[in-house]
Amino acid sequence: PRVVFSGIQPTGIPHLGNYLGALSNWVKLQKTAAPEDELLFSIVGWHALTLPQDPKTLSDSRMDMLATLLAIGIDPKRSILFHQDQNQNHTELAWILSCLAPMGKLQRMTTWKAKLAASRNANDESEVDESLLNVGLFTYPILQAADIMVYKATHIPVGEDQKQHLELAKNLADTFNRAYKAGVFPSPHLVTTPCCRILSLKDPTSKMSKSAPDTASRVLLTDTFSAISLKIKASVTDSLGPITYDPILRPGTSNLLTILAACVDEDVHSVAGRYEGKGHEALKGDVAEAIEKMIEGPRLEFERIRGERGYLEEVARDGALRARERSEETMREVRATVGLP
Ligand code: TYM
Repeated sequence: PRVVFSGIQPTGIPHLGNYLGALSNWVKLQKTAAPEDELLFSIVGWHALTLPQDPKTLSDSRMDMLATLLAIGIDPKRSILFHQDQNQNHTELAWILSCLAPMGKLQRMTTWKAKLAASRNANDESEVDESLLNVGLFTYPILQAADIMVYKATHIPVGEDQKQHLELAKNLADTFNRAYKAGVFPSPHLVTTPCCRILSLKDPTSKMSKSAPDTASRVLLTDTFSAISLKIKASVTDSLGPITYDPILRPGTSNLLTILAACVDEDVHSVAGRYEGKGHEALKGDVAEAIEKMIEGPRLEFERIRGERGYLEEVARDGALRARERSEETMREVRATVGLP
């Protein structure tokens, strides 16, 4: 049987990249899972703390994320839906894994290198001041590996940007098994969606992200049709004439085609074929409509569910209980294996 695990940070309403790159796959896997398969989906509050968070905003975002995941169709009866920060087993395993993880591997993580580069720009160009960055930012991938391994997860539906983190998890599973001559952890596999990577609507050379300052660079799952239309119409494309799919020369145009193809669940080339001789206006109109069609249901459901505090709290409580119980099996085995019964 498969054990599916994935997580998302509670740092605001998910955007189209989160949804098309990962969340839609969570729902799909839930639908297609065999009865004996297990599914766990987590809101990873501890990961969010690697960047400064306003406590009230973080607390609200945790709830909103839970409501969003329910709204897109995660079924708390079928899947274990829970807050990572309510299961201490994640941090206990993360510590044990920290003691096996080579510094060098973490230093090669592109997310860490990006933070380093950013800190370099802020100060003197030649000086990289690692000492100012927090340790959590550096060890974050170990906690991610622990999230996965504490349930012995085998299938991890994430976007392409998480590939390197998953490689580290594979590596740590393997390192643990070899260090203790024990077959405790299975190797986790990456599960991606066909579209993989959605780009910023304003700067199609970088990915769509929750933290980019320009809010017009992303469509949120709770955006209304008029907001979606405005953002898509104002998205950066090119002036190279009729629509063609060419991610290198035409990243903005191709990103819109990628989004459209993912929304209607078709191959991007056949979608592009339908725009032969047509311009950006036609494409943009269709993209906005396809997004609306896809997210209208979840948006209405989110508005309904977010008001049901009692229900949300009950789902969180039940999820935390089941997650703790499920991970405790692994931790008993891990503690015994390392000699800390
Ligand atoms: P997070 O919260 O940044 O993103 C959640 C998911 O959305 C995907 N994603 C994208 N996919 C396509 N295009 C984009 N522009 C885009 N932006 C984000 C991400 O790949 C991710 O799947 N470290 C993780 C959370 C995490 C986790 C885990 C995931 C913690 N522990 C264990 C899996 C397993 C993160 O920060 O995701």
